[in-house]
Amino acid sequence: MKNGKIGYAVAGLGVGKAHVDAAAEYDRCELVAVCDLIQEKMDKVASRYPGTKTYLDFDEMLKDPEIDIISIALPSAMHADFAVKALEAGKNVLVEKPIDITVEAALRIEEARVRTGKTVGVVHQNRNNAVMKPIKEAVDSGRIGKQVLGTFAVKWYRDQRYYDNGWHGTWAMDGGGSLINQAVHTVDLMQWLMGDVASVHSTMGIYNHNIETEDMTASLITFKSGAAATFVSTTCAYPGLSTDIQLYGTGGSIEADADILKRWRFADSEDEEDEEEEMLDRYSGGNRAAERSDPTLVTGHASMVRDIVDAVLDGRDPQIMPLEAVKSVRIVRAVYESAKTGKTIYFD
Ligand SMILES: NC(=O)c1ccc[n+]([C@@H]2O[C@H](COP(=O)([O-])OP(=O)(O)OC[C@H]3O[C@@H](n4cnc5c(N)ncnc54)[C@H](O)[C@@H]3O)[C@@H](O)[C@H]2O)c1
Repeated sequence: MKNGKIGYAVAGLGVGKAHVDAAAEYDRCELVAVCDLIQEKMDKVASRYPGTKTYLDFDEMLKDPEIDIISIALPSAMHADFAVKALEAGKNVLVEKPIDITVEAALRIEEARVRTGKTVGVVHQNRNNAVMKPIKEAVDSGRIGKQVLGTFAVKWYRDQRYYDNGWHGTWAMDGGGSLINQAVHTVDLMQWLMGDVASVHSTMGIYNHNIETEDMTASLITFKSGAAATFVSTTCAYPGLSTDIQLYGTGGSIEADADILKRWRFADSEDEEDEEEEMLDRYSGGNRAAERSDPTLVTGHASMVRDIVDAVLDGRDPQIMPLEAVKSVRIVRAVYESAKTGKTIYFD
């Protein structure tokens, strides 16, 4: 604790900078420290937020009694090792996506969570996109009817420089390419919206980068509900195109591009066109427009940082716990296994 507030620290100052800003801005916690191998990155944070301590050594930071929560924003294959160490040192953790690159590593975090009794949240901030609330409600209330088909497509672009940073696009540290790094958010949304996966059949390849892993995957996915989905991911779609999230049920159809609603049609509407127009008005500006019209709305990393702080202070579970986050990793690993072996992978 610092100044009577939850003490927050961030390890890894790539996307970790978004955690830093969120912690500095939230009035229920105090930014205490950052940790990175590059002092210059930490100095920038300390000059922006004076008083922030800097640690080149994660183990040293763990001894700091002012720290209650640590964001683990390190390369993906380091998540479990560092999260478990932090839990064993008595800290609570917020782990970046993917929770780690294998199911086994993710389960080590869950085991340490149970053993230490500490709080663990996982970042899948796209669940908190403003448009996801009505979409999830339409699914959970049954308004969309029996789910028939989902189409999910993450058509992004990364140039070679992105992959030349020492860990992106490696099996050992990234755990894969476009699917586990960029598209895992959408894999998470797919399973959150469509339920348990029954089977996966996939292909993948390397098209436009000098990397070990894939830069394109394409999968046919079936669900225990009987529905099916296609899921594609790539980092070759110059200059970086849409993230299609499209759901079709017997009661209606929903189409979104990331946080922007594109189509909203329901058979039970009193006036389909009026309802769609109203929904598109409200949700076609994405998160920024939604936050402007509703100041209580918090999206992105800020929503996840606030959630873990609130969970620790209020003694409740965080929004996304390890056993929920492992589901997308299990699907990702099945896609890679299917693409490598040519076989359909069936889930228990
Ligand atoms: N939720 C999101 O939208 C989102 C966006 C980008 C990245 N991520 C995830 O965040 C994680 C980090 O990705 P990134 O793009 O920020 O990577 P990055 O390479 O830009 O940043 C990682 C940082 O960790 C530091 N680091 C490495 N080893 C360290 C160690 N032993 N001790 C302290 N610091 C160490 C590096 O110096 C670097 O500054 C990945 O798991 C990635 O999947 C999530």
